[in-house]
Amino acid sequence: MSLLDDIQAIRSAATEALGKIDIADALEAWRIKYLGTKGLVKSTMQRLKDAPREEKPALGKAANQLKVALTEAFEAHKKKLGAALAGGGKTAAKLDVTLPGNRPKIGHSHIISQTVSEICEICARMGFEVAYGPEVEDELHNFVALNIPESHPARDPLDNFYLYPGAMLRSQTSTVQIRVMENTEPPVRIIAPGRVYRPDTVDATHSFMFHQVEGLYVDQGVTMSDLKTTLDQFCKAYFGGEVETRFRPSFFPFTEPSAEIDVLFHYPDGSTRWIELGGCGMVDPNVLKAVNYDPEKYTGFAFGLGIERMVMRRHNIPDIRFLYESDVRFLHQF
Ligand code: FA5
Repeated sequence: MSLLDDIQAIRSAATEALGKIDIADALEAWRIKYLGTKGLVKSTMQRLKDAPREEKPALGKAANQLKVALTEAFEAHKKKLGAALAGGGKTAAKLDVTLPGNRPKIGHSHIISQTVSEICEICARMGFEVAYGPEVEDELHNFVALNIPESHPARDPLDNFYLYPGAMLRSQTSTVQIRVMENTEPPVRIIAPGRVYRPDTVDATHSFMFHQVEGLYVDQGVTMSDLKTTLDQFCKAYFGGEVETRFRPSFFPFTEPSAEIDVLFHYPDGSTRWIELGGCGMVDPNVLKAVNYDPEKYTGFAFGLGIERMVMRRHNIPDIRFLYESDVRFLHQF
């Protein structure tokens, strides 16, 4: 077929196709096919340079006419299809009002928030009230009243997020123990959930921001066996009756004796590992003195558990970082 035949064939095919178009997307596709930078009109122009010299004037004229005719036909058709197509020609698909609407995606609270609520509910059944404290703390509540001396490594400025001298992001929820006891006469029985901050290196079980729940029970005659029973009952209520826990001797300046509670973590590949859930112990007499409680009359226990570790154990999440991802496909599972 000669170039002239091609030009005529393109013109009639384009005109016929344009006549059938009644939606914006099709009109745009037509424009790209015929008038686009890689369209048929353009390629026709490019073929002119290979035509015999004597035919060039006539072919050039025909090619120009093709371009003008299709451009005018396009503009006319666009106008005919109406104002809805005018703004770029992408929007005006035919409206079918009988189609079902797009269901909006419904969000829900994050698994950490759900867990905080559940912890509060379990502890409420054991008689614990919920208390809250500020995330920006002073050294009195984060360290001094908790019997953590100036020389203790936990007070190293490099191990804390100081905002300015004397003010920091709290590194533990134990601060709330002090705030509650300062303002309440014993007996006290509270839990305090909330965010804490530490410049820890991030890995599968550590984050620089995480959540803890603090527990505190001070009264006459509270013993270590009350502590063990409470934590055991709590773990059974949260993880299920078959959960395996263990207590390890440990040290915290604000409890004496102190222990750590671990739970057995089951990984998806079938392996198991003990993961530390939190610290606990009997409230140190120095802490009771700091809040003007009589250590001869009152004893108490305290604990502080990592909420992320609890969520990970219960839902078999192998890496803490998943919990802070904004990928809703992960979060929608819970
Ligand atoms: C404390 O923070 C003590 N305040 C706990 C306590 C309270 C002891 C009351 C005695 C009486 P520890 O630094 O071990 O202890 O932290 C407690 C738990 O928080 C850990 O067992 C762990 O579950 C969690 N945790 C600690 N660091 C991180 C971290 N970087 N990322 C995620 N979880 C963490």
